[in-house]
Amino acid sequence: MTPEFWHGKWQRNEIGFHEGRPNHFLMKHAGRLDAGAGSRVFLPLCGKTRDIAWLMERGARVAGAELNRGAIEQLFAELELAPEVTAAGPLQRFSAPGVDVFVGDVFALTPAQLGPVDAIYDRAALVALPAEVRRRYAGHLRGLTGTARQLLISYEYDQSLAKGPPFSVPADEVHALYGDGYRVQEVETAPVERGLKGLSEVVERIWQLTPRQG
Ligand SMILES: C[S@@+](CC[C@H](N)C(=O)[O-])C[C@H]1O[C@@H](n2cnc3c(N)ncnc32)[C@H](O)[C@@H]1O
Repeated sequence: MTPEFWHGKWQRNEIGFHEGRPNHFLMKHAGRLDAGAGSRVFLPLCGKTRDIAWLMERGARVAGAELNRGAIEQLFAELELAPEVTAAGPLQRFSAPGVDVFVGDVFALTPAQLGPVDAIYDRAALVALPAEVRRRYAGHLRGLTGTARQLLISYEYDQSLAKGPPFSVPADEVHALYGDGYRVQEVETAPVERGLKGLSEVVERIWQLTPRQG
């Protein structure tokens, strides 16, 4: 997917991925993320998700990365926060108390710009990327955060029947992407009742990734 692909989606308001309310699985499994008061949670490819407000309401500090500036302007408007906007290398950093969002390509973000992170919450981020980018993304996330613990939501469906995004990321691939640095646990698998891309057989899998010691 090119940046233009995503900018076009935002410009045309084709944002079916945006839930408009906190994610059901985040609310159910947030304890596994251990994102309580004072912890800092990174949301890669964050869009303007309501999950940011939900995490902040629970005392977590949030960091995000998102290509589209308009999405982040909308996010801060909905949070009723006026961001300070500064340069962070080729990205722009939108900051307010408890939240920093980096606008630009997540692959251009460095650990020094991001700062320390305790946990990663990946909803509709890994699955937004085509297969050839996903390995690079997984390695980049680990490098950015020092292999921070992670709650990951993936989709699985027959990729031959529909094109992504969101892409199907089979369980084997999640293990292959993250198994060397994390203990990979599947905590829930649920059918997507409303279907996806006209397909009825789609499941969502919720993963807890726990850093391996040493
Ligand atoms: C499927 S949406 C998911 C948004 C959000 N996680 C949610 O749950 O609503 C994927 C988002 O990733 C952004 N994106 C795509 N490629 C990106 C990149 N390389 N760096 C930063 N953001 C990117 C898109 O603009 C889009 O908003």
